[in-house]
Amino acid sequence: MAESFIVSGNSKEEKYKSLIPQIHALVEGETDLIANLSNIMSALKFGMNFFWVGIYFVRKTNEKSELVLGPFQGPVACTRISYGKGVCGAAWKEKSTIVVEDVENFAGHIACSSLSKSEIVLPAFDKNKEVALILDVDSEYLSNFDQTDKTYLEEVMRLIETFL
Ligand code: SME
Repeated sequence: MAESFIVSGNSKEEKYKSLIPQIHALVEGETDLIANLSNIMSALKFGMNFFWVGIYFVRKTNEKSELVLGPFQGPVACTRISYGKGVCGAAWKEKSTIVVEDVENFAGHIACSSLSKSEIVLPAFDKNKEVALILDVDSEYLSNFDQTDKTYLEEVMRLIETFL
């Protein structure tokens, strides 16, 4: 199965159209959240050649809720992010996708790597419509993410929600 995972196409849209059905096939018949997220992070990282792709889980304790690092592919990253902080914390608070063309222009951006120049962050919701986790995708290029990424990555988030 792994060897047959090949993403084809020249444009970003063609690559996503090739990748997304393979992601669906990759997780078919498997219900374990961590196993599926781990494979999806690898599929996105190597299929789309992103710099960093990873999950932050919303973790609740009696004192507070915060984001905690989950399965990812790429350089080591920040472990915990507070509500409303950085792009990830903002997407959690706003409950919506955030596209950042230049991280230097996003007030409060958390730089896990100085190589990261642009990013897209998307929430996944649990059955109660609460944010359960965040997907963060980083690029070493400015303005790397647009409506096409939003459309196809939101499709991935809807798939992830089926495991929650
Ligand atoms: N840049 C993110 C933090 C996560 S790392 O980039 C992996 C943010 O501002 O929330």
